[in-house]
Formats: sequence, structure tokens, C-alpha cells
Amino acid sequence: MTPVSNDHELRVSKIRHGTVIDHVRAGQALNVLAILGIDGGDGEEVSVGINVPSDRLARKDIVKVEDRELSQDEVDVLSLIAPDASINIVREYEVVEKHRVERPDAVEGVLSCPNPGCITTGGEPVTSQFEVLEDGVRCAYCGTITREEIASLIDT
Ligand code: CTP
Ligand code: ZN
Repeated sequence: MTPVSNDHELRVSKIRHGTVIDHVRAGQALNVLAILGIDGGDGEEVSVGINVPSDRLARKDIVKVEDRELSQDEVDVLSLIAPDASINIVREYEVVEKHRVERPDAVEGVLSCPNPGCITTGGEPVTSQFEVLEDGVRCAYCGTITREEIASLIDT
């Protein structure tokens, strides 16, 4: 807790209404934007901090989105690339709700399998399904495991 705030410390402005995704693993903010489908083209008001100092992590990213609450699907996918993230709901400048993301056991319909031979990528009406592992995700259909590049599987 900082007793006084001053101009030197304000890095990313507070928001009035919306969602702050805090404690995002450093370097993952742009993937968070991809998950949320934010590309700047729809006039969304978004602030992003990348590699900012943090007390809980050495460095963190932070994403603040005005006038937006996240769906459970979005939070589930976020948890895969930002397992320590906290989701803060802000109303009239106050944090009214705060929770850590939780890794689900599985995610459906939100990632696409990197295996071109997989039944889920062949144009068949099959919804993708991935089992969430400690350190990655496994396609429920073909067993392909993805560890480092989960963000590249995100359907946008
Ligand atoms: N925040 C914001 N706009 C607001 C209120 C809060 O952008 N109107 C941001 C804060 O800058 C912080 C996050 O939301 O990054 C969580 O706010 P708060 O709970 O007040 O901060 P901490 O107690 O430091 O959070 P934590 O314990 O989760 O680290
Ligand atoms: Zn597959």
C-alpha cells in the first residue's frame, strides 16, 4: 500500500467503469487484447501497461478496459496465458469486485487445434475441445499438446 500517490507514480490512469485485468504475466498484454477481440477498431477505450513494476510479480502487464465486463469464456482463456491475473470490476472509480482467474479443466470452442489433420480443423462441424494441463493444453480429439504458444491457438 502506498501512503501517498504522486505524479511520479501514476502510470496508467484509473478508470471509471469497466474491468482492470491486473497481474498479467509480463509480456502477455497484447495476447489479452487478442482474447478480448480488442484491436482498436471499434472505438473501445483501453489502457495497457507492459512490463511495469509490481509488488507481487517482478514485472507485470495490466489491461484496463472501459465499459466492459468479461464473459466466463474470456476469463477461462485468459487464465491460460495469465494464470496469476486478477479481474477487478470497477464502478464509479471504485473496485467493487475482485477475483483471481481460475484455470478450468477444459475449454470448448475458444482455441483452435494447430494440427491441420485434426478433425476440428477440417471444416467439419466439430467444436474444438482442449483439456487444460499444468503447463499447456491438449486437444481432446487428436491429443496434440501446446505449451508455449497457447495464445496462437486463440480463435479471433
Ligand atoms: N484501478 C483502476 N481504476 C480504478 C480503480 C482501480 O484502474 N478506478 C486499478 C488499480 O490501479 C489496480 C487495480 O485496478 O491496478 C486494482 O485496484 P485496487 O484493488 O485498488 O489495488 P490493489 O489493492 O493494489 O490490488 P491487488 O491487491 O489486487 O494488487
Ligand atoms: Zn486436434
